[in-house]
Amino acid sequence: MHTPAEEAYTIRPAGLADADALCTFKRQVFGETEFLLQGLEDFDDRVDIEADLIGRFHHQSNSVLVLAVRRDGQVIGLCSIVGGHLWRTRHVGTMSIGVLRAWWHRGVGKRLMTQTIRWADENPLLEKLALQVHSTNTAARALYTRLGFVEEGLLRGEAKMGDGEDDLVPMGLRLPKRPGTLVQGLVRHWD
Ligand SMILES: CC(C)(COP(=O)(O)OP(=O)(O)OC[C@H]1O[C@@H](n2cnc3c(N)ncnc32)[C@H](O)[C@@H]1OP(=O)(O)O)[C@@H](O)C(=O)NCCC(=O)NCCS
Repeated sequence: MHTPAEEAYTIRPAGLADADALCTFKRQVFGETEFLLQGLEDFDDRVDIEADLIGRFHHQSNSVLVLAVRRDGQVIGLCSIVGGHLWRTRHVGTMSIGVLRAWWHRGVGKRLMTQTIRWADENPLLEKLALQVHSTNTAARALYTRLGFVEEGLLRGEAKMGDGEDDLVPMGLRLPKRPGTLVQGLVRHWD
């Protein structure tokens, strides 16, 4: 049984000081689930690479890397938006989420997604969030549907799963347009 203090965590954008903990988190989460498109095979386990990645998020105004972090600095969940780089796609942010297995079913995923979507709502560039989910990933599909994402088709045999392959379901969430919002005012409302 966990005490309230052990359960406590904060949801906030990643800083460079999180690089080490983020590395540890990824090593663990990539080994725990096959439902992320990136796996251990594609993971470069070096803290400086992770710091570089965090820095790149800071320099893209339509992208954000959000973490769920415990008091001792351990990262227990991650949610990211990578905004399009081209003029014609910069209004679309591709979302990704992962939570450590030990923390599943405790509301971490929903909190991470809700806070990150709120950030996207206030971003003047983003008009749509997009993601792709394994057709067999019941938990994630339920979470996305609950938050307003709608299914936009089916990508057959799009992901390798061990010796087999899986279909991916593209899902999208339209954001209200807020013309005139200042880019400088983006990071707020973290709790
Ligand atoms: C998907 C994932 C992020 C959910 O995180 P979580 O912290 O366990 O989710 P929450 O406890 O916040 O649950 C949020 C909602 O998800 C849905 N959900 C979660 N687990 C579920 C399950 N096993 N079956 C059905 N729905 C589920 C529910 O709608 C739930 O809302 P509710 O509790 O109000 O009913 C987590 O399981 C995970 O990291 N999985 C591995 C990586 C992954 O699949 N990422 C998505 C790739 S597209």
